[in-house]
Amino acid sequence: MTASSTTASAGVANGQPAARLWSSRFAFILAATGSAVGLGNIWKFPYITGENGGGAFVLVYLFCIALIGLPIMMGEVLIGRRGHHNPINSMRSLALSDGRSSRWQGLGWMGVIASFIILSFYSVIGGWAVSYVGSSASGAFVGADADQVGGIFGNLLASPGDLLLWHTVFMAMVIVVVARGVRAGLEKAVTLLMPALFVLLLLMVGYAMTTDHFGAGVDFLFTPDFSKLTTEGILTAMGHAFFTLSLGMGVMMAYGSYLPREVSIVKVSIAVSFMDTLVALLAGLAIFPIVFATGLEPGAGPGLIFQTLPLAFGQMTGGAFFGTLFFVLLVFAAWTSAISLLEPLVSWLEEHKDVNRLASTLGAGFMVWLLGIASILSLNLWSDFHPLGMFTMFEGKTIFDLLDFFTANVMLPLGGLLVALFVGWGMKRASVESELGMESSVAFSLWYGLVRYVTPLGVLVVFVYNLA
Ligand code: PHE
Repeated sequence: MTASSTTASAGVANGQPAARLWSSRFAFILAATGSAVGLGNIWKFPYITGENGGGAFVLVYLFCIALIGLPIMMGEVLIGRRGHHNPINSMRSLALSDGRSSRWQGLGWMGVIASFIILSFYSVIGGWAVSYVGSSASGAFVGADADQVGGIFGNLLASPGDLLLWHTVFMAMVIVVVARGVRAGLEKAVTLLMPALFVLLLLMVGYAMTTDHFGAGVDFLFTPDFSKLTTEGILTAMGHAFFTLSLGMGVMMAYGSYLPREVSIVKVSIAVSFMDTLVALLAGLAIFPIVFATGLEPGAGPGLIFQTLPLAFGQMTGGAFFGTLFFVLLVFAAWTSAISLLEPLVSWLEEHKDVNRLASTLGAGFMVWLLGIASILSLNLWSDFHPLGMFTMFEGKTIFDLLDFFTANVMLPLGGLLVALFVGWGMKRASVESELGMESSVAFSLWYGLVRYVTPLGVLVVFVYNLA
């Protein structure tokens, strides 16, 4: 979308036409929360919490969000707004203007590439969620036993045709929104979807309260039992803090570049981190009581919401209705995250290559769709194809596993580490201070200390551990 296609006048503070800026602080919070709240909150957080024994893990996770996630989010939004371009050009211009090497733009590149790759398989899982809305609504889970529910999931994964259909539907939903631009597409979508998501989530929690195991769910999430905490659990919590806040891949930079100057980066970052955490906890409160009520295991792993939960819904009164609501909620969450994953590449094509919004979105979306097919086939026809199997580390990993591994365990922490180093050590302190609007305050010194020392160290530990 170009300036001429908007009625609002061009030339707003960021050097962006009005149609390319969020209309308000609230719009940014909704959009960034939409990005942050996704499969990570509703699918991954509950199952890793289940696998890691509950309360103590949750506590560590909260610390990671506050001490590592939030400081990096502020850094990314700051880079985006100050650079006011796509992640690659923003990194380049900020590095040069603070007397650093233009090679820092590599961080922008890595972000754009990582978000592109992540979206390719994120969309496949988003597709599962779409298909589950249909299964649940048609009553497929009502009264089903574990084998039948497992069969539905197994059949879906075994069928390249079905997976491709749902992946295509999901990518089409993403493209339709992104093609319309920042204000008319992204902002409008999140303004409708995010409040709906909250309502659905609260309904789900309300439903969980009607089971007689709500207390057990609360207990599981909030009563820490440190004997259940492992080193691995701590590192998982740290790694997940990145993923769930959409950090380390240029998304918050791209969204930050559309943030009007007068908005406080500190306040919006705190709001987004808070909402993201709230949703993860509410998702836990919605899911675990239902799981316990039917005597199922919380530590079921990745299948928790696609196998355990449908089984639980199938046995409860009102389960078909609430099960369907749950999967609609999951689709909304995945959708608003997926649009943010397409944005870095689209904004680069648009600004740097001068391709119009529609063509950029279609081009980028098509490439993502194509790459997604590799993940689809990894689940069935290519499940025995292990391209890097000659290295013990990658033994038995399919293309899907490898894409997930390299993005989540390598590119994402590396991106976060570089963001912390860039704002903490690369940029001039004065530039950072003025962009945050926190000149010589105690809060600034606190944040600066975190971003310079604590965050890089924390990330380094996770990074090395995950590779070792
Ligand atoms: N934060 C999203 C989630 O929790 C995933 C995501 C990661 C989105 C990175 C954008 C960028 O599901």
